[in-house]
Amino acid sequence: MEKGSQLYEGKAKKVFATGDPDLLIVSYKDDATAFNGLKRGTIEGKGVVNNKMSNALMRLLEKEGIPTHFVKELNDRETLVKKVRIVPLEVIVRNVSAGSFAKHYGVEEGIVFPRPTIEFSYKNDALGDPLLNEYHAEALKLAAPSEIADIKRYAFRINEVLKSFWDSCGVTLVDFKLEFGKLPDGRIVLADEISPDTSRLWDKETGRKLDKDRFRRDLGGVEEAYREIMARLERKLGVAE
Ligand code: TMP
Ligand code: ASP
Repeated sequence: MEKGSQLYEGKAKKVFATGDPDLLIVSYKDDATAFNGLKRGTIEGKGVVNNKMSNALMRLLEKEGIPTHFVKELNDRETLVKKVRIVPLEVIVRNVSAGSFAKHYGVEEGIVFPRPTIEFSYKNDALGDPLLNEYHAEALKLAAPSEIADIKRYAFRINEVLKSFWDSCGVTLVDFKLEFGKLPDGRIVLADEISPDTSRLWDKETGRKLDKDRFRRDLGGVEEAYREIMARLERKLGVAE
């Protein structure tokens, strides 16, 4: 599949057209940002890890019946995906308190929830991705009620699959962010990426953070953490097909 013109450059990825109007190429960068772009840096090798990890996890989810945008890994940093209209919601599932949850509600990190939580924010950088509920999402016409129902059902199912996968790698899936898209026929599919940029992944034994919080919080060992979490995934799944 030949790479056409660049359609979009985001904070961590670029998107290119292809010869097929229904397909796009996503290219993962090493650029890292946090706090709505306020903090900037580079995490060497991150683009390769995020590309391969996201693809491996989407293949796993497809096997479990979750539809995704994934089509084919083209090389270390580039993947062919279905073109979708992104639903402008960030869908966050949490199993354990951390990050903005701990901050908002004044609790420590590491509290294991009796059952997972879900929340939505409006994907809008100018507004700082404000939190909203499903009534707000409907009022703003960001998604229809039936689409929100699909998104919630998929998000909790994805959590079950990923939680058990990461557990088998000795890792606690603390929380993660998903984005969904709409195919031309209206079906909702998982889009964007699932990576250490978009998930909190803690070593089960030591609690060591193996995700982007090392960058956000200046904890050091950022590249090592990305390499370590990818090595654990590859040990479990074998090298990506
Ligand atoms: P939070 O605790 O800061 O709300 O983050 C929850 C999860 O969402 C965490 O795994 C990191 C991920 N996340 C993103 O993928 N993109 C973002 O812009 C933010 C703020 C969080
Ligand atoms: N990547 C996001 C940003 O720059 C935030 C994050 O992942 O913390 O806003």
